Amino acid sequence: MEPIKDSTGNPTKKLAINATDHQVRELLAQMTLEEKVGQMVQIDYSLIGTPDYLLKDSPVDRQKLELAISKYHVGSILNAPMSPDNKAQPVAFWQRITAAIQQASTNSRLKIPVLYGIDAIHGATYTQGATLFPQAISMAATFNTELSFKEGEITARELRASGLPWNFSPVMDIGRQALWPRLWETYGEDVHLATTLGTAFIKGHQGSDFSKPDKAATCLKHYVGYSFPINGKDRTPAWIGERMLREYFLPAFEAGIKAGAPSVMVNSAEVDGIPGHANHHYLTTILRGEMGFKGFTVSDWEDIERLYTRDKLAASPREAVKIAVLAGVDMSMVPFDFSFYDLLLDLVRSGEVPEARIDEAVSRILSVKFQLGLFEPQQPPLPIDTHFATPEAQAINLQAAHEAIVLAKNDHGILPLPKSADIFVTGPTANLLSALNGGWTITWQGDNESLYPHNKLTVLGALQQQTSGIIGYRQGSSFDAEVDISKAVAEASKHAVILLCLGEKPYTETPGNISSLELPAAQNKLAEAMLATGKPVILLILGGRPRIITSIAEQASGVLLGFLPGMEGGRAIADILYGAYNPDGKLPISYPRSSNGHTLYDYKPIESFDSNTYHPLYPFGHGLSYSSFATSGLTVASPRIKTGESVHVSVNVHNTGKLKGKETVLLYLHDVAASVTRPNRQLKAFKKVALEAGQSERLEFTLTPQDLSFIGVDLKRIVEPGDFELFVGTEKAKFTLTE
Ligand code: GLC
Repeated sequence: MEPIKDSTGNPTKKLAINATDHQVRELLAQMTLEEKVGQMVQIDYSLIGTPDYLLKDSPVDRQKLELAISKYHVGSILNAPMSPDNKAQPVAFWQRITAAIQQASTNSRLKIPVLYGIDAIHGATYTQGATLFPQAISMAATFNTELSFKEGEITARELRASGLPWNFSPVMDIGRQALWPRLWETYGEDVHLATTLGTAFIKGHQGSDFSKPDKAATCLKHYVGYSFPINGKDRTPAWIGERMLREYFLPAFEAGIKAGAPSVMVNSAEVDGIPGHANHHYLTTILRGEMGFKGFTVSDWEDIERLYTRDKLAASPREAVKIAVLAGVDMSMVPFDFSFYDLLLDLVRSGEVPEARIDEAVSRILSVKFQLGLFEPQQPPLPIDTHFATPEAQAINLQAAHEAIVLAKNDHGILPLPKSADIFVTGPTANLLSALNGGWTITWQGDNESLYPHNKLTVLGALQQQTSGIIGYRQGSSFDAEVDISKAVAEASKHAVILLCLGEKPYTETPGNISSLELPAAQNKLAEAMLATGKPVILLILGGRPRIITSIAEQASGVLLGFLPGMEGGRAIADILYGAYNPDGKLPISYPRSSNGHTLYDYKPIESFDSNTYHPLYPFGHGLSYSSFATSGLTVASPRIKTGESVHVSVNVHNTGKLKGKETVLLYLHDVAASVTRPNRQLKAFKKVALEAGQSERLEFTLTPQDLSFIGVDLKRIVEPGDFELFVGTEKAKFTLTE
C-alpha cells in the first residue's frame, strides 16, 4: 500500500510514520496467529544455508528456506556461514542469499519480507574486503564525532551493498570494568563521550530515512548494565543500584533512541539477580514507559532458553518464553531451532500470553520493516565500485586509525624516529593484522589470521614498507609463550632502537575472559630482556583492554597505546613512529597502574584520601602530541545563572609547539555540593581543533540544564542550585546556580 503523500507528492517523515501505522494495522488484521508469532522468530543462517562447498553458487537450501518461511513464517535471519565459524563472504554471496530469501518471502501468503540482521560493529565484518574501522574503544580515543558519523555512513553503505539492512550496532554499554572482554566494543568509561560518538554513528548509519539504498537500521546493545560484571567476566552478575543505572548506564540508550535507532538488543546477563530477558522493569516500565521507545527489542543469542537452561529462573523452556515475552522481548534470537515458535503459539492458545501482546510485538517489528522499505520492490544493489571499500572510505579509515593512537610517553622526544632509523621490532603483536582488529573481524573471534586481506599491513609490514633505514625482526614471544627471546636479544644488540609490540590476541565475549590484567609472563620476560639490552625501547601495546604495563612503561623511552585501530592500524602506527602523522588520540578510559587500580576519572570525593586516590598509570583524557598545546582564559559568561538557563563557557587553545597538530579540549563540570555525592569531575563537552604551529582559537561551549543535572535521592533527574566549578586543563572557573 502506498504511504500517504503530502501536497508535493512526497511522504513527509510524520506522514510516512502515520502511513506506516496504517499499513501495519491493515497487514496485522490479515495475519493468522501463526504468521504473527513467526514474525517474532529469528533464526541463524545455518538453518537455511547449504554446506560450505555449495556456498559459492547456491548459499541457500531452498527446502530449508521454504520450511522456515512457509511453515514457521520466520520474521528474521541472522549471521554468516558458521563452518568452521562465522566467515566473511564475497558481496556476491550476500546479494545471492538476500535475493533468495526475498524471493521466498514473496511466495508466502502475505509476502512479509524477512529482516536479515548482522554484526558489523566496526564495518561490514562478514563481507570480504569491507572497510574495517578502529573498534569502538579506538574510535572513542579519536574524540572525533565527525569521524564516528562517517564510520556509520560507510558501514551502512557497505552493508546495503551486501543486501543487509540491519546492523547489531552500536554498543551503547559504558566501559567501566577494565577486565570485561567486551570493553573494546564500548566507547569507554564516560557517558558523555559514549553518548556523543554512539549517536553520531547512528545518524551517519541511518541518515534521515534508513530505507534509502545506502542507509541501514541500527540496534542499541546490550540493554542494560551488561558491561559492568562485578568480577569482570562476561555474562556474570552485575549489581547496579537504580541510581547508578540511571546515572551511568541508561543515558546512552536514551540518547540512541532519540537519535532514531529502531531496535534494541537485550543484555545477556543479569543485573541485581534479574536476567536482562526477564526484566519487565527495564524492558517495559523504563524502556517504553519512561524512554518512549517505539521500536522492537530482540533477545541476544539463545538467551530466552537460557532463562531455563542457565539462570534457573524458568522451570521449563515454555515458561522461559512466557517470562521473556511478557517482560517485553519482542523478537527471539532463538537461533538454532523453531522451539520458540511452537512454545509461544501454545502459550497464546492457552491464554497465558494474550494475543494483544503478540500484536504489540509484531506491530513494532512490521513497522521497522515498513520504515526500512522492505515491502517496496527491492532496489538493485548499489554499484560496488562506487559504494564498497572505495579509496575515500579507506582514506577516512586511515584518518580514524591515525587519530585513534594515543602517544602516552615520549621521553626526550625520542619520537618521531627518522625514516633512516635502525629499528629492531619484536613481540607478539608486531606482525599480525588480527592483533590490530580484534573480535568481530572476518570471523566471530577475529583470530583467523589466514583469512585477513593480504593487501593490508601489519605494524612490521608498514615499517618495512616505509623505512629508508634498517628493520630487524624476531617474534621473541607469542601472546603467552616464549619463542626465541635469546635470539631476539642477540639481534636487538645490533640495532639502535627497539620497538616492543605487546598486547592481546583477538577475542570477544566469554572466550576473552581473563583472571588478571597482568600481561602473560612470556611477554614480561621479553620486555625485561629488551630493556636489559640498554637500547632505547618504544613500547606499543595493542588489544581490547588495558593490561598492566607499568614496570615496562616506566623504563621505556616511548609508549604508544594502540588498542584496536583496525585494518589501517599498521600504517597509522608507522606514520606516527616516523612523524608522518602527529598523534592526537586521547584515552577514553583510565589506564590502570595495577591490577586492582579500578578507580575511574569521575571518582567520588570519598576517593580523594590516602590510598583511595585516583592514581592510574595514564588518566582518562591523556594523550601527547609531537607539538604542545595550552589553554587559557577559561570564562563563564555569567558567574550567577538562574536554574533552567544554559551556561556559556569559552576558552582559548594555543598550539605552542613547532608542528601543526590536533588538540581535543575537554570541559569538565564539578557540582560542589549536592544531595547525592557528586563526582570530582564529569566530562560535559569536548571539541577537537586542528591548529598550525603558533595558532590560537577561542572555543565556545554551552552547557544545558540537563548537563548540570543528576539522579537525586528519589531516583529522579534533578538540578539543584548551588556552586559549580568548570575545569579545562589546569584552569578552573566557577559559577553559582540560583533558584
Ligand atoms: C552475541 C553478542 C551480540 C551479537 C549477537 C549476534 O552473543 O552478545 O553482541 O550481536 O550474539 O551475533
